[in-house]
Amino acid sequence: MSVSEHVLQKYKRDKSPILNRLDGKTKIKVENLNLFYGEKQALFDVSIDIKEKEITALIGPSGCGKSTFLRTLNRMNDLIDSVKINGKIIIDGEDIYKSNDVIKLRTKVGMVFQKPNLFPMSIFDNIAYGPRMHGIKNKGKLEQIVEESLRSAAIWDEVKDRLKSSALGLSGGQQQRVAIARTIAMKPDVILMDEPTSALDPISTLKVEELLAQMKEDFTIVIVTHNMQQAARVSDRTAFFLNGEIIEFDETSKIFSTPTDQRTEDYVTGRFG
Ligand SMILES: Nc1ncnc2c1ncn2[C@@H]1O[C@H](COP(=O)(O)OP(=O)(O)OP(=O)(O)O)[C@@H](O)[C@H]1O
Ligand SMILES: [Mg+2]
Repeated sequence: MSVSEHVLQKYKRDKSPILNRLDGKTKIKVENLNLFYGEKQALFDVSIDIKEKEITALIGPSGCGKSTFLRTLNRMNDLIDSVKINGKIIIDGEDIYKSNDVIKLRTKVGMVFQKPNLFPMSIFDNIAYGPRMHGIKNKGKLEQIVEESLRSAAIWDEVKDRLKSSALGLSGGQQQRVAIARTIAMKPDVILMDEPTSALDPISTLKVEELLAQMKEDFTIVIVTHNMQQAARVSDRTAFFLNGEIIEFDETSKIFSTPTDQRTEDYVTGRFG
């Protein structure tokens, strides 16, 4: 039996507990979103409700627009000149493309990348960087934020005796958890993650997945992953993207057991992509 068939079987056996929480509060409402890179359209009429304190997974073949979509949620595409966007993204009732306070938006909606991208400075300074930029200078306060953030990212015990050492001396898996701690230190509501474990070994991947389950208590998480088992293991809802469109969006258990669209079924069972 292939691994994806195995996941499918598992979901057919035990119905996901999230059925109890079906009507969570909407944190991000996306309505009829279109995105163009110059003449080329990359997102087509995307509408989706992302629920508070859930993990929403974005899956789909390479080039289907997952990263593009993720970046619209904190206006990272604004950095690309050719990008044109229409439609609406409403976070906590506010249309993020109508407000000019992009700094505030990116504090509220943090991001973790595929590669840890830590700064060449100490572990402590990496975490304290954002809070310092926001004007926090008090040493005690900074120490508190650094410890809390590292604890929340399940990396405190591994680094507490070497906070002054370079962050680049850590393993890839440790660096990724420090990168997550750095995001947490900004106290965001939403954390976007673009393939956060694709550069990690299986054990580090598992640690990050366990961390995600714990982080869900405090944050709304949107994660892009190529790993079907990961989407099935960690997320509450899954959106399947194909050629810039959302083909199907539903509870993860439904997407992996009884998807409505044939193309979703073909993808999750590994028949294409
Ligand atoms: N900066 C850019 N300028 C022009 N086109 C872009 C740019 N970034 C992405 N694209 C195009 O937009 C489409 C969607 O790309 P995107 O990176 O969002 O896909 P993806 O689903 O994240 O793929 P992958 O799984 O490989 O990361 C692709 O056709 C890509 O070539
Ligand atoms: Mg991508």
